[in-house]
Amino acid sequence: MADISNKIEILRRLQERARLGGGVERIEAQHKKGKLTARERLDLLLDRGSFQELDAFVVGRLEAGKTEDKIYGDGVVTGWGTIDGRLVYVYAQDFTVMGGSLGEAHAAKICKVQDLALKNGAPIIGLNDSGGARIQEGVASLVGYASIFLRNTLASGVIPQITAILGPCAGGAVYSPALTDFILMAEGTSNMFVTGPEVVKAATHEQITAEELGGTAVHTEKSGVCHLSAPSEADVLYLIRKLLSYLPQNNMEEPPYLPPRDDPLRMDQELDSLVPDDPTKPYDVKEVIQRIVDDRDFFEIQPNFAPNIVIGFARLGGYSVGVVANQPAVLAGVLDIDASEKAARFVRTCDAFNLPLITLVDVPGFMPGIAQEHAGIIRSGAKLLYAYCEATVPKLTVILRKAYGGAYIVMSSKAMRGDLNLAWPGAEIAVMGPEGAVNILYRRELEQAKDPETYRAQRVAEYRQQFANPYIAAERGFLDGIIEPHETRPRLIHALHMLRNKRDSNPYKKHGNIPL
Ligand code: HXC
Repeated sequence: MADISNKIEILRRLQERARLGGGVERIEAQHKKGKLTARERLDLLLDRGSFQELDAFVVGRLEAGKTEDKIYGDGVVTGWGTIDGRLVYVYAQDFTVMGGSLGEAHAAKICKVQDLALKNGAPIIGLNDSGGARIQEGVASLVGYASIFLRNTLASGVIPQITAILGPCAGGAVYSPALTDFILMAEGTSNMFVTGPEVVKAATHEQITAEELGGTAVHTEKSGVCHLSAPSEADVLYLIRKLLSYLPQNNMEEPPYLPPRDDPLRMDQELDSLVPDDPTKPYDVKEVIQRIVDDRDFFEIQPNFAPNIVIGFARLGGYSVGVVANQPAVLAGVLDIDASEKAARFVRTCDAFNLPLITLVDVPGFMPGIAQEHAGIIRSGAKLLYAYCEATVPKLTVILRKAYGGAYIVMSSKAMRGDLNLAWPGAEIAVMGPEGAVNILYRRELEQAKDPETYRAQRVAEYRQQFANPYIAAERGFLDGIIEPHETRPRLIHALHMLRNKRDSNPYKKHGNIPL
């Protein structure tokens, strides 16, 4: 008896050592930087008491020769737990152990949970806070990264993969997050870059701080690498919990159904007057989305990147949906390179995880300009086309106002396997906007007209009446119906019920060749 209690005592001491990672002083240093420890983060992320740790006694290759004072865990805490009662796998890098740097054993621990997550069909969440490849372990740590990237890629589209950046994330280390479905960042304490400020200075003589090079402002607004950020780590971890509430455990499951408190038959009279008649007048499409979805609850993704298109998750009659909407309040909702890529990625995410797509259209066209053409808007627009065409989830489209030219086609039009395409009565579907069309069709007359502006206005009015309305499309069956704005919510929910058992597929192939 004395013997076993002795052994239990030893176990407890070792467990305590493992729990402390790099020791009390380094934990304090972590707190002073405004950061939490790996274990504190897991406590906030997971349901209380649900965390089950793996490999707590794994030691790094540098520790292997030591007989005492070994550091356990090798700078990463791994295991599984639950979020809202649903299984998730997790790893959290521990900056207090060699700066959370990634050595061979550290990588092997992450690979183990990645393998479990894929085999058991549950999401994996990585909490990153690391100095990158462990310098002392050389190529072995690079091999470790490669092993993680491979698993990220194989799991892509099978299980949701989410990464939070809660400290430095530099060099090749950025590519594991970049391979996952969603990246979240904590404001002020996290950054991401392939080459840091020192290397940038040496290579290009540009001087820049880490924050300016790869802080949250950069990645949420300019690069679009980061999907969501929040002022505190606790907020970031909350956002992960909320994000998962819209997603299934894996690609073979339906997303969770939340019995709606909001009446599925609720109509919203405000919608009838929310969109200005004048197609050049802006309005906030997020207001439209909120009035349609359950409880006005719209979980926007990448809100500050390419804000001329809006993407995010919501529920309709309790069912999780992905929403894509042109935003007339920013750049008139035009489709440019960033907007096309943002929406294309989101459409593919929803399709991979069985979320029906709701597309709200009010788009003047693709962005004209030398910069956009030279940067490859052809390729980027094709990405969005490709994403919508290949998607087999239920696809519901509502044309709110303008739908011109290629932009009409790309925004989930009927001919691209749209399941239900509706329009509001003010919709204008045409090859191009009235002004552009009149300039081309009546060039000579405009040149010769005594009063070109009056002549132009007359022709524009004529064109609008003749072509820029939803009836021509409805007469040909390119629209399934024209509805009053206030009935949009119940119409969409009825359609989602109708499409509950939708089955569609693509021809067998190794994989498609999306224009990357
Ligand atoms: C080994 C490392 C380390 C690393 C940090 N540490 N990075 N140990 N390998 N890569 C250790 C430090 O020696 C220190 O140990 C502890 O972690 C904390 O580091 P500090 O520098 O004191 O912390 P801080 O001032 O907060 O600075 C953090 C940092 C800085 C910005 C991350 O440490 C840093 O620049 N590290 C190097 C980053 C880097 O260049 N990594 C390689 C990237 S290339 P003690 O014992 O003092 O606590 C890469 C290739 C991957 O990752 C390729 C994949 C394909």
